Amino acid sequence: PPIKEPKATFTSPSTGKPIDYYEVDIKPLTQQVYPNLGKTRLVGYDGISPGPTFMMNQGRESIVRFINHADRANSVHLHGSYSRAPFDGWAEDTTEPGQYKDYYYPNAQAARTLWYHDHAIDHTAENAYFGQAGFYILHDPKEQSLGLPSGDYDVPLALASKRYNSDGTLWSPEANDETDSLFGDVIHVNGQPWPYFKVEPRKYRFRFLDTSVSRTFSLYFVADKASSTKIPMTVIGSDAGLGTAPVKTSTLDISMAERYEVVFDFAAYKDQNVTLKNQWDVGADDDFAGTDRVMKFIVGNTVTSTAGNGELPASLVSVPFPQQKTTIDRSFKFERSNGEWQINKVTFADVNNRVLAKPPRGATEVWYLENSSGGWSHPIHIHLVDFQVISRVDGKRNGIQPYEKTTLKDVVWLGPNEKVKVLARYAPWDGLYMFHCHNLIHEDHAMMAAMNVTALAG
Ligand code: C2O
Ligand code: CU
Repeated sequence: PPIKEPKATFTSPSTGKPIDYYEVDIKPLTQQVYPNLGKTRLVGYDGISPGPTFMMNQGRESIVRFINHADRANSVHLHGSYSRAPFDGWAEDTTEPGQYKDYYYPNAQAARTLWYHDHAIDHTAENAYFGQAGFYILHDPKEQSLGLPSGDYDVPLALASKRYNSDGTLWSPEANDETDSLFGDVIHVNGQPWPYFKVEPRKYRFRFLDTSVSRTFSLYFVADKASSTKIPMTVIGSDAGLGTAPVKTSTLDISMAERYEVVFDFAAYKDQNVTLKNQWDVGADDDFAGTDRVMKFIVGNTVTSTAGNGELPASLVSVPFPQQKTTIDRSFKFERSNGEWQINKVTFADVNNRVLAKPPRGATEVWYLENSSGGWSHPIHIHLVDFQVISRVDGKRNGIQPYEKTTLKDVVWLGPNEKVKVLARYAPWDGLYMFHCHNLIHEDHAMMAAMNVTALAG
């Protein structure tokens, strides 16, 4: 996607520092997406899907005006930002067609891969799936001093899994009253089905993001699409940015809304193809003939720049892991009951009971997340905070992946029957924030709750 340019720069009357001002038009588009079918109707940020990529520097604040030219309400969440509550995309804080809202983003966190996407009450799946999602990348000086692949060699890759009608339009979960999942049989990267990408025989930094409504991936690289020999990749970071040290792995699990930053070296594959594949039968997902393939890399034979092509540093950044817990533990059960998706027996529609936690601001808490729904995955996202994944028990996987240990996260994949323990410091702001399942259909069918971070004892 193209890089978004600011429209103007203001000086903050309170800090004297510059604030970049952006405008984004949310509008419909039609695009030839799937070959040999009709055109697809989408609604995207600036009329493209994925939306334009924001490229930001730590310490430089921004205001983004999202103008709604679509025919339904929206709310915009910058996923990964500790935005103040009024700018966090609260699901009921919707902007009607013909209106706009200005969102203020502090951009004070360490370098990380964020994404912005729709969060409108009951309609998030439909809106994000039909195009309202884009990258928001934050850089910082430490990250830029590490000699990582950058510029043209730093590539954001948004994965998605979609389903088409025979006329080329997208199969709509709302029009079809889907209340469970939308696995999709067509894998997309950056809006294109099963694309290819021409690369040089050198190292690349890939920023993987799973924007799917319901599909989890287990990614691996092979030199030939028929080969089963997995070429290792190196994970350098996740949701909250770079990790303490690079982690080599041959497969990478990535569930909805998770981000993983990976360095992959094509040097040994001059004039060959490298294919990125997906393991079938991940979690509890449905699979189809082509869901084991993601994209192809066509490797050339010339390297135009060797910048960022050296050895990776043995250690990357110091990660602010939360210290010992300071308050009581909390536990949350994610389950299906009476055809509803619930958290501790509550749905988001239950407005009088949906505040399930009141962590005192600054408290460090242990949260136990338990999937007792049977055959479904629930990637759990907690707004505002970054958490450390402490343990995963029961379920098929029973354990934390090595690349989940070196970084902080804001989403954790809770596979069938798994129990996961996460530790976070509830800061820096007071306010009412959401936490929920990031299977967007579960989220829309109310597997969402609120926490009230407050100066009062909770
Ligand atoms: Cu990525 Cu509450 O969302
Ligand atoms: Cu779920």
